[in-house]
Amino acid sequence: METILVTGASSGMGREIAIRFSRTCRVILCGRNMERLQESLSRCSDRFNHVLWQFDLDNIDSIEGSLQNLLTSNDVKVTYFVHCAGYINTLPIKLVSSDVLRKTFYTNVFSAELIIKTLMMRKINRDILKSVVLISSNISNFGAVAHSVYGASKGALDSMMRSLAVELAPRVRVNSVLPGAVHTAMTEHIYGNEDLIHRMEATYPLGLGTTSDIADAVEFLLSDKARWITGQQLTVDGGRTINITG
Ligand SMILES: NC(=O)c1ccc[n+]([C@@H]2O[C@H](COP(=O)([O-])OP(=O)(O)OC[C@H]3O[C@@H](n4cnc5c(N)ncnc54)[C@H](OP(=O)(O)O)[C@@H]3O)[C@@H](O)[C@H]2O)c1
Repeated sequence: METILVTGASSGMGREIAIRFSRTCRVILCGRNMERLQESLSRCSDRFNHVLWQFDLDNIDSIEGSLQNLLTSNDVKVTYFVHCAGYINTLPIKLVSSDVLRKTFYTNVFSAELIIKTLMMRKINRDILKSVVLISSNISNFGAVAHSVYGASKGALDSMMRSLAVELAPRVRVNSVLPGAVHTAMTEHIYGNEDLIHRMEATYPLGLGTTSDIADAVEFLLSDKARWITGQQLTVDGGRTINITG
């Protein structure tokens, strides 16, 4: 039986990915909120003994120890890792603080690096890790007002992805998925505004996407069908970022 670790599994895309993979793998669902984690678990297939990892990824100094304990106490080895946890606080530069910078980078970038480091430790995970997908954002290659911190974190995540893809080859493939706007808790404030959504939708040649569209891309990249793909950003945004219609 293979195991997949999904951060951000208590909501949105991470929840969708956890549910999708629960039919074929044991899933380690990571999130902070136990009620939401339990809700995700209740929607998973009960075919395997899934594991909950309630952890705040902001506590970066404890990530390695906590994950090592979880893996050894449950006698689990991880084959696939999807980093879906994300923090966004859209702020114009004048309101940016060191605290927002720290929280954004700890959750979006640093935690992923330390989780991968742990999963590469032979005594903890043997040589089992095979494929990693990091959930970035289409902002990674572009710019938007009030997105300097979040955008920088996703750019850093993708840069980390490319170097790890080279360093960990040929055993481990590392890629990222760059979603466009998808309706989740993170974007609830946008989707609640009908006018805004209509205007936004018009800029998406294929219309707005769903968490299932993102899970499809993740499933492909983790699978052996992507065996010769590593170090790549896969943009999944319905054509939003290639649309230069005036
Ligand atoms: N939605 C979009 O339109 C969109 C577009 C581009 C990229 N993305 C990216 O897609 C990923 C998934 O986002 P989503 O839309 O599915 O958002 P979401 O529904 O708000 O889910 C965010 C997840 O991240 C977890 N998380 C946040 N901070 C954490 C922390 N410090 N420690 C542990 N877990 C933490 C949350 O856990 P709790 O439930 O415990 O708080 C939750 O499970 C993110 O990386 C986001 O940046 C989203």
